[in-house]
Amino acid sequence: MIIINMKVYPQGIGDAAVDLARTLETAADAYPDATLALAPSHPDLARVRDAVEVPVLAQHTDGHEPGSGTGRVLPESLKDLGIDGSLVNHAERQIPPKEIERAVKRLTDAGLASVVCAEDANKVAQVAEHDPTFVAMEPPELIGGEVSVTTANPDIVEESVQAANKVNPDVPVLCGAGVKTGEDVSTALDLETQGVLVASAVVKADDPGAALADLLDGAV
Ligand code: G3P
Repeated sequence: MIIINMKVYPQGIGDAAVDLARTLETAADAYPDATLALAPSHPDLARVRDAVEVPVLAQHTDGHEPGSGTGRVLPESLKDLGIDGSLVNHAERQIPPKEIERAVKRLTDAGLASVVCAEDANKVAQVAEHDPTFVAMEPPELIGGEVSVTTANPDIVEESVQAANKVNPDVPVLCGAGVKTGEDVSTALDLETQGVLVASAVVKADDPGAALADLLDGAV
């Protein structure tokens, strides 16, 4: 599994989000054993959904019930748009522990996938209890940086996989932060993760299709 988080990089919003999504889907066609998922920002979800067939995830969803809740994003709304799931508690969009639990439950009840982010092995263990579709471990200090978490701190990746396995062996673990090359992806898989969460190395690349292909080369 490789999730490309488009964040709100200029290269990943508006019309550029659609172009980027199409480019990445085409590049991933050559790797049928890998699953590509794209996470555009909320205003671009519908147009990216219309443009590609790969799974599309929101970058954030709230566990609120329909009703008062200005600015909240509900699983029902995502489902209506044909969105496949959502990141939850990304380091740049953190929510309190109770809200994480509610968001995962509401997504699950709506039949949508949840990818819950956690900053270390302890947090991985906490969120794995909620039975999300994936847990994604990302140390905040390495996000957007030059060194991949798999190089800077392989121990934290291993510890996170072990922590999740202990609490809930059914929950697959992804890792992210600074992942840039096929070698980083290969190391992530060697460390027993099921894939990676990536942003800058692909979204900000001069040739995003080639950058994605390089990452996917590490998975085969
Ligand atoms: O959600 C993925 C992200 O936080 C990692 O960002 O730029 O380090 O790949 P980046």
